[in-house]
Amino acid sequence: MTATFASAPGGMPLPQGPSGAVLGAAGLRVCFVTPHAGHLLAVDDVSLSVPAGRMLGIVGESGSGKTTVARCLAGLLRPDSGEIVLSGEVLTGRRSPAQRRAVQLVFQDPYASLNPRLRVGTVLRELLAEHGIARGEAAEARCRQLMTLVGLGEAALGGYPSAFSGGQRQRIAIARALAVEPAVLVADEPVSSLDVSVQATILALFAELRDRLGLAVVMISHNLAAVRNVCDDVAVMYLGRIVEQGSREAVFGDPRHPYTRALLAAAPRLRPGSEPVAARLAGEPPSATSRPAGCAFHPRCPRAEARCAVEEPRLLPVTPAAAPAATGASAEVASDPVAHPALAAHPAHAAACHFRDERPREDRPREDRP
Ligand SMILES: Nc1ncnc2c1ncn2[C@@H]1O[C@H](COP(=O)(O)OP(=O)(O)OP(=O)(O)O)[C@@H](O)[C@H]1O
Ligand SMILES: [Mg+2]
Repeated sequence: MTATFASAPGGMPLPQGPSGAVLGAAGLRVCFVTPHAGHLLAVDDVSLSVPAGRMLGIVGESGSGKTTVARCLAGLLRPDSGEIVLSGEVLTGRRSPAQRRAVQLVFQDPYASLNPRLRVGTVLRELLAEHGIARGEAAEARCRQLMTLVGLGEAALGGYPSAFSGGQRQRIAIARALAVEPAVLVADEPVSSLDVSVQATILALFAELRDRLGLAVVMISHNLAAVRNVCDDVAVMYLGRIVEQGSREAVFGDPRHPYTRALLAAAPRLRPGSEPVAARLAGEPPSATSRPAGCAFHPRCPRAEARCAVEEPRLLPVTPAAAPAATGASAEVASDPVAHPALAAHPAHAAACHFRDERPREDRPREDRP
């Protein structure tokens, strides 16, 4: 299940796990029952897959369901329906210890996620012993390897969390996640509490670990520029649903959904001089307790018209530029008939909003070209 680490040239551990180690989700749905607001559909019909050695970025405004998806993937929350599949196994009921080890969460706040009373080395040694990975001298060697992997010196093993900066603490939190030899890291805004100057170095560390260890990484972030820099694939969430998903090149270079375009247009570092968010993305996202009928984005969509309040766009594959848009049931997102659907590669797809622009990029209005 998990990638097993073995000694490799330079003393670095490398994964020896199954090359197909992958996390997939199909049709995830999470509904919270709240005392005041009633039923809140936080995640609705979310499907995604993350192959080994790739990083999937999940973006979307606050409340769009990103953390809820992350908690489901990491086994902290059981979805009301849908399936999560890890390396070909459907994860039902309580996860086995090996399944829990295989998917590790890295949290936003490294200050809160580390026990201030334990030295870094103590935390790591305890984890290695608890999971039967290494004891004694082997554990010491493994601790030193982990520090090297995350870019900290061996001396860090003797320190308490309070002795480290925010960026260093996040490196320690990543080392702790790596100690149990996971196949997947799920990182929920892992740099948003850090100083801007260190954010890029931590993101680069995730990319390095993906490449070096062949990890599958789910990277949740509000920062589109960061996602564009490090992620291979991107899923855009709006009010609990994925409205567009595809390779980084497809989503950033040729966004189809008006919401994706608005998000990109509102990201200042992607488009220097672009208008502020409020001018582009009018209003707040609606509450998940009262999802608008039709297209959930229509109350804020600059192009909405009467039919948008009635018709609910389905996800359809993105056709290559200039080819006609696919429509009809036969054009539903293709799934691999052999593998479990949750493990099928998800071709680029976007909600079939009738404003999906299938014209070649250069023929579109300038404001629609990110
Ligand atoms: N335990 C819970 N009980 C009730 N509602 C919840 C719970 N957890 C999340 N929600 C609601 O579910 C929706 C999705 O929340 P979630 O935290 O997944 O969003 P998010 O995209 O991670 O937002 P942010 O970017 O602010 O972190 C929100 O409306 C949120 O208020
Ligand atoms: Mg969140």
